[in-house]
Amino acid sequence: MKIAVIILSILLIGAIGIIIFLYTKLKQTGKITKKTKDLSEAGILASGLAHEIRNPLNSIKINVQLLQEDIEDAIEDEELKNDFRETISSITYEIARLNELMTNFLTYARPTQLQKEDFNLSEFLSDMVNFMKVEAENKGIVIEYSFPEEDLIFNGDKQKLRQSLMNILKNAIQILGEGGKVKITLKNMRDLYLIEIEDNGPGMTEEFLKQIFVAFSSQRKGGTGLGLSIAKKFIDAHGGGIKVESKVGVGTKFTIILPASGNASLNNGEEDEG
Ligand SMILES: Nc1ncnc2c1ncn2[C@@H]1O[C@H](COP(=O)(O)OP(=O)(O)O)[C@@H](O)[C@H]1O
Ligand SMILES: [Mg+2]
Repeated sequence: MKIAVIILSILLIGAIGIIIFLYTKLKQTGKITKKTKDLSEAGILASGLAHEIRNPLNSIKINVQLLQEDIEDAIEDEELKNDFRETISSITYEIARLNELMTNFLTYARPTQLQKEDFNLSEFLSDMVNFMKVEAENKGIVIEYSFPEEDLIFNGDKQKLRQSLMNILKNAIQILGEGGKVKITLKNMRDLYLIEIEDNGPGMTEEFLKQIFVAFSSQRKGGTGLGLSIAKKFIDAHGGGIKVESKVGVGTKFTIILPASGNASLNNGEEDEG
């Protein structure tokens, strides 16, 4: 049994080795952004590798689960059982982290293709708030929101916009503690739609703020540092942008700017979905 755990650990260490290689490769490509040829070659190589890691990773995951069941049945000694449980739980944690890293990495490395449709931004944001509410409330965090009366129709990729905003909102929920507050505001400014996500969390130093959108910049334990890079990539693809203001000890405000003009279609006979 112990041998199996050791073998799995070795496999995992191997996988981590490949990830470190990917990290280094991507960091290097970040330094040569102007050499697009090199960048695309390294990008293809890295995403190919990332893709290949997923299958063995899934198989490791399934085997660890089986191993856990075997151990529960086979070992009587409680102390020994607990030792195994601890080892398995740390392997499971690393597998989950690697899986998250792979998924985020592939999202980041792949070229963005938008599947656009018209949708109502207030409804869209309300759904997102409802989705995150329980997790926030469990941590003693309040999510407030303020949306305009008028329907703001945006033409964009709903799924990608959702992922971008969720990545920003999740960071706030992760960093806030009891008494935390997040305010989501939607505004219409002439030909721009602004979505503000403001929190009263610990904020960021000016120095860290400069690199916040650089891939793999993370100050969170277990973080991949790809959440905001992905958000920026998706928002940029919509012709928009993200602005961040932050003050240590006060909080952080992300403003997602989306172009409404040319995309908005306020009176195109949209269906009433109740
Ligand atoms: N609302 C926030 N308040 C304070 N720090 C934040 C906030 N959002 C993001 N950060 C910082 O930016 C880092 C990068 O975020 P992200 O790209 O989502 O990667 P990850 O969440 O994996 O660390 C986080 O690790 C955190 O240090
Ligand atoms: Mg994040």
